[in-house]
Amino acid sequence: MTTTGPELGLLLREFYTRQYGLIDRGAAEECAATFAADATLVRNAGSARMRAAGASPVHRGRAGIARALARTVRRRADAGVVRRHFVGPLTYERTDADTVRTRYYLLVVDTGADGPGLRSSCVVRDVLTGSDGRWLTRHRTIDHDETAAPATKGSPAMTSSPGPEAVLRIASGVRQAQVLFTALELGVFDALAEGPLSAAELADRHGLHPRAVRDLLAALHALGLLERDFDGYRLAPAADTYLVRGRPAHLGGFLAFLDGVLHPAWRGLTESVRTGQAVRAGDPYDGLYDSAADRDGFLDAMDVLNSPLAAQLAEYDWHRYRSFVDVGGARGNLAAQIAKAHPGLDARVFDLPGLRPAFDRHMAALGLTGAVSFTAGDFFADPLPAADVVIFGHVLHNWPEERRDVLLAKAYEAVSPGGSVLVYDPMIDEHRPQLPNVLASLNMLVWSEGGSEYPVGDLRARLFAAGFATVTASRIGATGTLVAARKAA
Ligand SMILES: C[S@@+](CC[C@H](N)C(=O)[O-])C[C@H]1O[C@@H](n2cnc3c(N)ncnc32)[C@H](O)[C@@H]1O
Repeated sequence: MTTTGPELGLLLREFYTRQYGLIDRGAAEECAATFAADATLVRNAGSARMRAAGASPVHRGRAGIARALARTVRRRADAGVVRRHFVGPLTYERTDADTVRTRYYLLVVDTGADGPGLRSSCVVRDVLTGSDGRWLTRHRTIDHDETAAPATKGSPAMTSSPGPEAVLRIASGVRQAQVLFTALELGVFDALAEGPLSAAELADRHGLHPRAVRDLLAALHALGLLERDFDGYRLAPAADTYLVRGRPAHLGGFLAFLDGVLHPAWRGLTESVRTGQAVRAGDPYDGLYDSAADRDGFLDAMDVLNSPLAAQLAEYDWHRYRSFVDVGGARGNLAAQIAKAHPGLDARVFDLPGLRPAFDRHMAALGLTGAVSFTAGDFFADPLPAADVVIFGHVLHNWPEERRDVLLAKAYEAVSPGGSVLVYDPMIDEHRPQLPNVLASLNMLVWSEGGSEYPVGDLRARLFAAGFATVTASRIGATGTLVAARKAA
């Protein structure tokens, strides 16, 4: 190809920067507008994989290209992937006053939860029409390098079609979880905490079926929860730390809550997705504290989730404030850690009356009796205690939007002038939704009538509507967002 001067090259690069930038941002329609109305886009015409899948490699017309781009954007969003296109070495040729032919290498990089990875390396050939700087792509051919790479063994269709492993791994998740819950229920980890056992010994001791125990232990071994040697099975470090009753980091209450309350609700996900309704209508906290086992399991679960956040919140700039109230603060785990780090603060938890005994016990266990006060009440029926800072941690996502507004209005009343409200939840990044946050939102869907995770922008608008002035957001924990909003002095 011939080149016709550096300025044309610069203008072409500007064109591609804009065109690929639009699709990287998810603007499928706008990107399609950079193609001529009668454009054609041909992808991997020689690809055995596309032939095998019966997929058409050709998209015709701007509307057809827009649909194809929109599908790609949707798939990316569903997979929680950020995509970037990098245009490499470019050659070009002006074939007449209105037409330029280009050829360039294109690298496509996807960044997901596991970090960045090269998705494809291609050669692109374009025919552009129009005058300098105002081009439209009339024809584009994209050839992925693997379609040009020499075939190895097997038929082309067999070597390029994806295996079913990814689907099967997801489908077997429920069985893996059940292996863990059954082992907990049968006391397998507690038994092995006393020393290694063979499958036959465990079966004998607990009156279980020998062949079934052999398979259960083998599955726990394959899952990395048990180790195996000549003496039989012993606990792997994670099981030793988290799955033995009575150990400080025991997750039994949390797992019992998952198994006994949350997962049964997940069986109704299909219906909830149809209707938008939780599996059990009404307030999820009605009756939750009636049984000590359910209450303690729930509180254990909350503390597993809030403990890593508490350390971070304790580092908040508390020196400007004299008091805080943790609304829906459960048995006071988070409030206790802030109070411990800042003994001068007047620290308070506001929660349902049924949690007062659990709160007293937890404070005594932490050696912090008297460091945090407890106000019993219903945050929809009662006013919130006045304080410089009101905290809503994992609270707003339990409720429908109109009830979130009620709580934020009450917080505005309770916060002193110059004070703040702090909100943390696993909020949703709409452009790059993360799997744990989306699963948390589905938890709310099935368990908590009208609850869901939500984008920061949505909360920001609600906070402004409630009267708060400045609003800032930051990350908290692995997947959480902390939003702080100030009330004018
Ligand atoms: C999901 S938990 C969050 C606990 C804690 N803030 C955390 O981050 O782990 C929600 C809390 O809100 C409390 N709660 C629910 N309904 C309430 C109500 N009407 N009034 C006061 N507290 C309520 C629950 O008892 C529970 O402790």
